[in-house]
Amino acid sequence: IKLHIKNLSGTEQTVEVAPDGSLMEAIRDSGFQDLLALCGGCCSCATCHIVVESDFVAPEPMSSEEDDLLDGSDHRQAGSRLSCQIPLTDACDGLRLRIVPAD
Ligand code: FES
Repeated sequence: IKLHIKNLSGTEQTVEVAPDGSLMEAIRDSGFQDLLALCGGCCSCATCHIVVESDFVAPEPMSSEEDDLLDGSDHRQAGSRLSCQIPLTDACDGLRLRIVPAD
């Protein structure tokens, strides 16, 4: 599947990844060092914050833990998600997203 990812300087790159693991892992493993993902995907650090810029219905709704962590960010906006909480499935194909600064 293809992902269109913008880093913190706004440069967009398209990567091709296998639908496996989480969106956070796919972004990190594609070499985007702007995505810190410090807790490794435990939904406790909020440094895997991204904004989804295309139409996308997540396979699973946002948990209250994710919602609370995003509330603690100065950069929360429509489309904000923690990328470690999104399973990477075929539903993510064509996803356009932007990495958000960790604060
Ligand atoms: Fe820490 Fe997603 S990697 S909350």
